[in-house]
Amino acid sequence: MFEYGQVPFPAHIHSPDSLHAARLLPLRDDDVFLVTYPKSGTTWLQELISVVLAEGDPGPALVAPTWERAPWLEQRGSIETIMARTSPRVITTHLHRHLAPEGLSKGQGKVVYLARNPKDVVVSSFHFHHIALFLEESGSWEDFFQRFLDGKTMHGSWFEHVLGWLKSDENSNLLLLTYEELHTEFRTSLRRLASFLGRPLDSAAEEMVSSHCSFAKMVTNCMTNYSLVPHSWINHTQGRFLRKGVLGDWKTHLTINQNDKIECEFQERFTTWSDAKSFGA
Ligand code: PPS
Repeated sequence: MFEYGQVPFPAHIHSPDSLHAARLLPLRDDDVFLVTYPKSGTTWLQELISVVLAEGDPGPALVAPTWERAPWLEQRGSIETIMARTSPRVITTHLHRHLAPEGLSKGQGKVVYLARNPKDVVVSSFHFHHIALFLEESGSWEDFFQRFLDGKTMHGSWFEHVLGWLKSDENSNLLLLTYEELHTEFRTSLRRLASFLGRPLDSAAEEMVSSHCSFAKMVTNCMTNYSLVPHSWINHTQGRFLRKGVLGDWKTHLTINQNDKIECEFQERFTTWSDAKSFGA
């Protein structure tokens, strides 16, 4: 890992140069940025956006993996790919707000920010560290949980990530979705997303998106389940990238003490943010 802008990044896939280039990417007005803290449902949203932009037709999403359709802004070598893309570009990023492209502050592009309950994020991330060979060892669960709370795991503090994006003054072009809402109010979230992207869907198209982007479908779809990622990057025998896809798996992992600690941090950071409860924390 190395630090850039006070945020820790895994060195195998990022470099100071790739992060610098990300900040300076020239934007287009119709760019769509898909922004998440890692393990918040990025892949789900990549798939949803692909199919919504195709007005419910899953065809284009079935011919390329998620990371080709919605490339990662900050990864080494991505900028050239993104610059060569035709519009509208869909660009994925885990970057904190202060490291994101400068053009966003000039009102260019749209941002869809997807947030997930940090208790489920830390659990998902812990399991991901067991299969992702490009990441450092997770260490014990106790250790990992504490490093996550301290903002020492990849991409730094969950709290600072969420607050950085949601408290930004330049949010007229930002849609906030939560992983929890996608589970419990899928149709409403889908309509908000489609309307924000300027692609309202009829009920047949909504049905197509809903079916194509279900966990059951995505887990068996090689364009979404990461089975196309080489074994040198992901140890497919240790677990699944699309692991459980449920709400509240934290209840089988966090001790009472760990739950108290994260609740405490949550309440300290989110006292002024009325939507905090939407994470079901
Ligand atoms: S990454 O590595 O940051 O890109 O991971 P990310 O895609 O953000 O998060 C992975 C978690 O999202 C879950 N997921 C889904 N849940 C429900 N429905 C669908 N369709 C779906 N697609 C992905 C995935 O299972 C990971 O969560 P966990 O809790 O580990 O299962």
